[in-house]
Amino acid sequence: MRPAESKEWLQCIACAAKYPIFEARYFCECGNLLALERTLGALSQIEPKQFDSRLGGRSVLQQSGVWRFREGVLTIEDKYIVSHPEGGTHLYRRSHLSQWAGIDELYFKHEGENPTGSFKDRGITVAISQAMAIDVPAVACASTGNTSASLAAYAAQAGKKAVVFVPEGKISVAKMVQTLAYGALCLKVEGDFDVAMRLVREACQKMGLYLLNSVNPFRIEGQKTIAWELLQDLGWDAPDWIALPAGNLGNTSALGKALKEAFEAGWISKLPRLAAIQASTANPFFLSYRQAFATRPRVKAETIASAIRIGDPVSFDKAKAAILYTRGVVSEVTDAELLLAKREIDRAGIGCEPASACSLAGARKLRESGTIRSSDRVACVLTGNLMKDPDAVLAPIEGVPGAEDQVIAVKADLDSVAKALEGRL
Ligand code: F0G
Repeated sequence: MRPAESKEWLQCIACAAKYPIFEARYFCECGNLLALERTLGALSQIEPKQFDSRLGGRSVLQQSGVWRFREGVLTIEDKYIVSHPEGGTHLYRRSHLSQWAGIDELYFKHEGENPTGSFKDRGITVAISQAMAIDVPAVACASTGNTSASLAAYAAQAGKKAVVFVPEGKISVAKMVQTLAYGALCLKVEGDFDVAMRLVREACQKMGLYLLNSVNPFRIEGQKTIAWELLQDLGWDAPDWIALPAGNLGNTSALGKALKEAFEAGWISKLPRLAAIQASTANPFFLSYRQAFATRPRVKAETIASAIRIGDPVSFDKAKAAILYTRGVVSEVTDAELLLAKREIDRAGIGCEPASACSLAGARKLRESGTIRSSDRVACVLTGNLMKDPDAVLAPIEGVPGAEDQVIAVKADLDSVAKALEGRL
């Protein structure tokens, strides 16, 4: 079938060249990124209530918060779909966090509740299903730890060999252990994430591995459902803002595409604005935004939020389009600011990993500067689970208190217990 005749195809975001979806390809001949596109009007024929009617269903595909939206994700035969299932994450409100941020109607979409503990599962289920459909021998990615864990789990389920490229000594032990436990082969690359990313791209091209980083357009199709499920949680009454952490920029791209498609299909009557938040010492997207995207800076990234320690994000062009389309903003927060926000989220009983807390730290900062108003409805995406980075909890970091003083050694008698509790209850 020629691409023009099929319902879905890959299309260059710069020169609009088209390729069939069964080609294992991530870039156009001209070197730019590819996106999955579908026949004009395909989504406007769907009513959101069709998606709503699947809620509460018992089949794996109905339970999946990705495949529940399958008409807008990927046309694929059921036999190829590898689903945990994933998605179906909760949307939280906590008055204490609203007060802390100065935003009355503040929501948290907790993507750390996905099966492997991060939002990556939503993209990986789609990309690995596509890997089954085109029958690749093995899958690979570069990762700061969450993509690798997700890829490893889904590859295990699919019976595919998995190879992950991680920056040596730069990912949390919990993520590394999780990736190994699911059985992936782990290449510790001498260098940072950006070096590992360049290496995996070359390796995939030369060695027939199928690349599952977010340059893979099928990843983006899955991750769009973060926004769609959030809109569904809100009864398709769109919020004013969606704030999210930004690293390699796949997620910013995905949320932008999701909102554009939902708006153009008439599923929502108002377009939310994206607020992409970077760590101030890993901030190439923010630097570019500040110059109205006139240049594309690359930085040597360093931040406590290891998930987003990225200086040369691959999905830059798509993310830029997402910010421009949604009249979004890009902001930055210091390590101390994101750790303080994490502490608030943790102590609200919700919890998240450091990178995720950028969303709240950023929303609070944008509220303080007047970009976000206190009456705006704001949804923060929490991208990863608290257990992903235990080191960020115990010791004080950047002047933000840790939890060490909550641990008191006691003798096994009541006197010691009474002494330990004195003045603390
Ligand atoms: N939050 C968490 C917890 C992440 O793991 C990542 C990215 C991001 C935010 C940023 O998302 O890259 O789409 O802008 N983690 C990747 C990984 C790089 O390898 O796990 P992005």
